[in-house]
Amino acid sequence: MSEGSRQDTEGALEPRRSFLMAIGAIVMGGLATVPALGAAVTALLDPLRRRGSDRQMVQVARLSSLPSDGVPRRFTLEDDRVDGWATYTDVPIGAVYLRRVDDQVTALNVVCPHAGCFVGLAPDRSRFACPCHKSSFALDGSIDDPSSPSPRDMDALEVEVRGDEVWVKFQNFLPGREDKTPV
Ligand code: FES
Repeated sequence: MSEGSRQDTEGALEPRRSFLMAIGAIVMGGLATVPALGAAVTALLDPLRRRGSDRQMVQVARLSSLPSDGVPRRFTLEDDRVDGWATYTDVPIGAVYLRRVDDQVTALNVVCPHAGCFVGLAPDRSRFACPCHKSSFALDGSIDDPSSPSPRDMDALEVEVRGDEVWVKFQNFLPGREDKTPV
């Protein structure tokens, strides 16, 4: 009798054991997919992750084509842009003045730090002049007229000369502030 009772108990335990093993297999299988899911989510979010770090060097001109007379030349910059999961090529992103003196090249953003108008080169090419509120800057970008409303000098940009190529780290900054705060 006790033998039959033991057999009945083992018979009742068997389905429970199978059920627990099935649950365990499901849990382990689920855990095994976590790394793959993480990689998939990372790949999906990649364009969004890149958005904040896409400030990069842009090739602007050939050094050999840039006169070394110290007169600034204006260049429009184009770059590829990622918008979500779409990539657009050769999109205008801004403009800079390049100024070469001997082999030294400097770059200035054309945007006026006062309120965002485009600064122009004066007709005699001796200084920059903003058409909106008459800020005036020397060719190195410094404010050359104390009555200029601009709160800071023109925004200098990082330049790299790689062989015959001039590259600029293009960046816009908030207008109306004394400090250069990247947009
Ligand atoms: S925007 Fe240039 S002086 Fe105001």
